[in-house]
Amino acid sequence: MRTQVAIIGAGPAGLLLSRLLTLQGIDSVVLENRSREYVEARIRAGILEQHTVDTLIEAGVGDRLRREGLEHRGIYLQYPGTRHKLDFPELCGRTVWVYGQTEVTKDLIKAQLDGGPPLIFDVSGVVLKDVATHHPRVHFTDAEGTPQVLECDVIAGTDGFHGVSRPVVQHGTNGRVWERTYPYAWLGILADAAPATDELIYAWHPEGFALYSMRSPTVSRLYLQVDPTEKIENWSDDRIWDNLATRFALEGWELSTGTITEKSVLPMRSFVSAPMRHGRLFLAGDAAHIVPPTGAKGLNLAVADVTILASALVRLLQENKTDLVDSYSDRALARVWRCTHFSWFMTSMLHRSGDDFDAELQLSQLRRIAASEPAARELAENYTGLPLDL
Ligand code: FAD
Ligand code: DHB
Repeated sequence: MRTQVAIIGAGPAGLLLSRLLTLQGIDSVVLENRSREYVEARIRAGILEQHTVDTLIEAGVGDRLRREGLEHRGIYLQYPGTRHKLDFPELCGRTVWVYGQTEVTKDLIKAQLDGGPPLIFDVSGVVLKDVATHHPRVHFTDAEGTPQVLECDVIAGTDGFHGVSRPVVQHGTNGRVWERTYPYAWLGILADAAPATDELIYAWHPEGFALYSMRSPTVSRLYLQVDPTEKIENWSDDRIWDNLATRFALEGWELSTGTITEKSVLPMRSFVSAPMRHGRLFLAGDAAHIVPPTGAKGLNLAVADVTILASALVRLLQENKTDLVDSYSDRALARVWRCTHFSWFMTSMLHRSGDDFDAELQLSQLRRIAASEPAARELAENYTGLPLDL
């Protein structure tokens, strides 16, 4: 088997890269080690930056997003006694969209299987070979158990945090990683309950952070800060609703409850791996970096990476020019660090940890954002997404 770009992993990064390359006349093959059902059911991100929305629409996979996505013009920041609205169009002229990552993935998979380049599910034993040469190869076993070799010009490592690509880059380049783990996790639920808010609510509370998000006019997505060692079995539905009611409490407002259809505990970490390239192997998305979810950046960062990477690969493979692939890692990492800082900032400001001194500093920062337009604008610009090149 031969292609121009072998893409490892059918998450949003890999699928969108394949789509962007196809539109520019470049062949690719996407290899995914899970089943289509598994990939389409994985519940994750929910907020899309304007740039992400524009990219998906321009790539021809935005019809359902335009119909079913919910445009959001701000967020609420809450702390005891106050629910303050940040109006994004007023602050920075941009908006964000609520549209589940599961839906983005389904739309991309559908486009790919509908006459797009090969997308092969259920592969195993993926091994990357000769990545420092101009003729890299990917060895894998297909779903029928037959060993295969995919020859290519370039490999894109879009295989997420637990993939095989990052270790190859790290080993080949003597690379570096930075990591921060946080002393808390999120318990996330999906509930058949009409959202009791027009915008997302990010709530600071003495008992811990809570986030009110949504997926549709009838489905809410909610998160609670919990201890990272917390077992989901210890959280009955009643206990979850009680905690959410306490942390979002505000006079005159009531939480709407409903059947919980999914619940899980999610760890939080910041992680950056550099460089994002070794020879003809390029990393993008969670394969190279992880942000804690508080800033809603992970999926958007993956989209930004592959947007930059797609144009660099087009230039390499169609014009034989290396300038854009040579600058890819530095360009992508500049944005990665901006988003890493913003995600750390939102996480540190909103989660309870430390002592009362820390709590007062957090509250002071929240009051500052509520009172100062420049402070609010800084948050709004980062949240709605900064330009591709900073
Ligand atoms: P992934 O989605 O992880 O895709 C990688 C793919 O590679 C997977 O399909 C995997 O099965 C496959 N794979 C792995 N190893 C191999 C292998 N060896 N061979 C072949 N295939 C392989 N981001 C936001 O922007 N906004 C949000 O609101 C947001 N909220 C989040 C909430 C939660 C609870 C979580 C957990 C994450 C959230 N994120 C958010 C982050 C976002 O989900 C990720 O950043 C995003 O999935 C990254 O996409 P990716 O394609 O790089 O990686
Ligand atoms: C969602 C997730 C986030 O991490 C976030 O900051 C906002 C919304 C969500 O899943 O809807």
